[in-house]
Amino acid sequence: MAIKLGDHAPDFTAESTAGTITFHSWLGDSWGILFSHPKDYTPVCTTELGTVARLKPEFESRNVKVAGLSVDSVEDHHGWSKDIEETQGTALNFPLIADPDRTVSDLYEMIHPNADNTLTVRSVFVIGPDKRVKLTLTYPASTGRNFDEILRVIDSLQLTADKGLATPANWTAGKDVIIAPSISDADARERFGEFNAVKPYLRYTKAPS
Ligand code: BEZ
Repeated sequence: MAIKLGDHAPDFTAESTAGTITFHSWLGDSWGILFSHPKDYTPVCTTELGTVARLKPEFESRNVKVAGLSVDSVEDHHGWSKDIEETQGTALNFPLIADPDRTVSDLYEMIHPNADNTLTVRSVFVIGPDKRVKLTLTYPASTGRNFDEILRVIDSLQLTADKGLATPANWTAGKDVIIAPSISDADARERFGEFNAVKPYLRYTKAPS
């Protein structure tokens, strides 16, 4: 059965470019991103992993640990990482999990047989410090993901977790946010100060700094 939002993120132990990882203890109290790519030594994947490596300081500043995964071996991951550094200008600086026996791919349903019977699709799981799944995304092999969007979602998820706030369509960090319907006007005033009630159910307030 597919992993759904709010589900407990399955734990596993696997080999990676950073050694053996037991997922939950590796995450510790951090947020986490587990993302799969179809195959080593392929063009779109090369650009994706270079992009994630470049964005590492952005993930770190949000207390997010990132791990990639494919069904290739650790040896292949290490060999390919030289190409990533050469072509993308950034060395791999996060663990790339090797899943040749598909243990993790099956746990997280990263193989979609009607798309490809053997390779993982481009799955993304964002996992909260409570080890619950907060976001899932699935992209086809031919479309590289927008990791700026994943950072944007993390910002929104953390506003919800920390402040009980939601974010409107096309929101980006710094823009006004939405007060969750579960919060009363009186409670909202106490927690956020002034707010703009366009409708009783549509209340904007300044994003907390
Ligand atoms: C790629 O990363 O370029 C790719 C991988 C598998 C299928 C298609 C494209």
